[in-house]
This record gives sequence, C-alpha cells and structure tokens, in this order.
Amino acid sequence: MRLLRLLELHQLLSLGGAMGEEWESASSLGELFEAIKDCRRCPLGATRTNLVLGTGDEQAEIMFVGEAPGFHEDKQGIPFVGPAGQLLDQLLGSIGLERSQVYIANTLKCRPPENRDPQPQELETCTPFLFKQIEIIGPHIICTLGNHATKTLLATSTGITQLHGKLTRKGSLVYVPLFHPAAALHKPPLKNTLIEDFQRLREHLDSERVRWREEAEAAAEPEASPEAEPEQMGLF
Ligand code: URA
Repeated sequence: MRLLRLLELHQLLSLGGAMGEEWESASSLGELFEAIKDCRRCPLGATRTNLVLGTGDEQAEIMFVGEAPGFHEDKQGIPFVGPAGQLLDQLLGSIGLERSQVYIANTLKCRPPENRDPQPQELETCTPFLFKQIEIIGPHIICTLGNHATKTLLATSTGITQLHGKLTRKGSLVYVPLFHPAAALHKPPLKNTLIEDFQRLREHLDSERVRWREEAEAAAEPEASPEAEPEQMGLF
C-alpha cells in the first residue's frame, strides 16, 4: 500500500518538476529544507523573509496543507502561527490532537506579497516540493485547507463548499478537504462547520485506522501452503 503511494508520488514528481535537481534525492525533511531554503525559482523568492517548509511529526498519520505563508509565518519560518494557526490549534485540540502529532505545510512555501492568491506559475514551481514532503512523510490522510490546496492536490475544479468534510480517495491517497481556518475568521458561521468537520475527520481517522490494521494483518498473513501430499500408506 505504502509502495503504491510512493510510486504514485514519484509519478507526480516526474510530471511536476525538472528531474535531476539536488532536492529530489532528499530523504528527510531536513535535507529537503537545506536543498531549497534559498530557492529563487519564482519571483516570491525575492520578497520572502523565510522559506516556510512545514512543521510537525515527520511520520505523521495526518498532514494538513494550507495555501501559503502569511505575514507571521514569513517572519518566523513556521506555518500557521498567526490567527488562523491559533484556530487550527484549537480545532486539533477538539479532536485530541496537538500540532506536534500532525504535519502542517502549505502549497506555496513563500509568502505572496500582501497575501494575494497564489499564481499558477508559482503553484507549478512549488508543488513538486509539496509532493516530495508527502513522499517523505507518507501520511495516511491529507487534509487540504481551503480551495487552493484542495484544487491543487485533488486536481479538481469542484470547490471546497461541496467537498468539505468528505473523505475522498484519489488513487491510493486519502484526502479530507476542509474549509481554511482563515475563512472561518472572516465568516464566523463557518467556524461551526469547521468544528463539525473536525469531528467527521476524527471519525474518518478512526475508521481508516481499522482499515489500515486489517490491510496490514492481511499482508502479514503467511500464504496458504499447498495441500500436503497424502502419505502413500500402501507403500509400507
Ligand atoms: N494561511 C495559510 O494558508 N498558511 C499559513 O501558513 C498561514 C495562513
């Protein structure tokens, strides 16, 4: 199962990025960060303070993917540390998780000026790094936060309003799109929807864990041995 996921990600990587660059052989997030921290592949490299790769458990079961670093994230080099991040922490807490138990990243690693929307060329340049992160972490569930991450990772034009809270399988990867916490800060009624969707995420996680356990047990079971040859008693 994990191998399938990796193969799929290798396909995504080879579609998305130029082959043969140093970052492609990174086998840890630290190596990946070292290889891209001075990136100038798109114009955002000239205006950012820090490249924001991600934070959390390198072997997390759940990964959250937001849009792009904002003002605070750019200054600190850590995703989701501003008001939207505080709400994300509360939502994680509501299902018994801390940010150190999950992994949090963005589709873009550098802050767009004035927090404008990511441009197609920036996404095209930056998403291979996200796929590499997914390959290294190997999460069981990827939660896309908001429209940009959802459309980018699910390669869909269907918006978050229709997809939020629903478990979506794409190949061997499992996604749960969620509203972006910043959207709930601007439109308070969305906060209740997010709270409910996090409860659904908890249920998805519990039922997926049962599925992963069953798959792992089935894979570990010894193959049925061919029927033993009956003893030829008549020979004795
Ligand atoms: N919004 C995002 O999408 N990402 C961050 O890291 C912060 C705010």
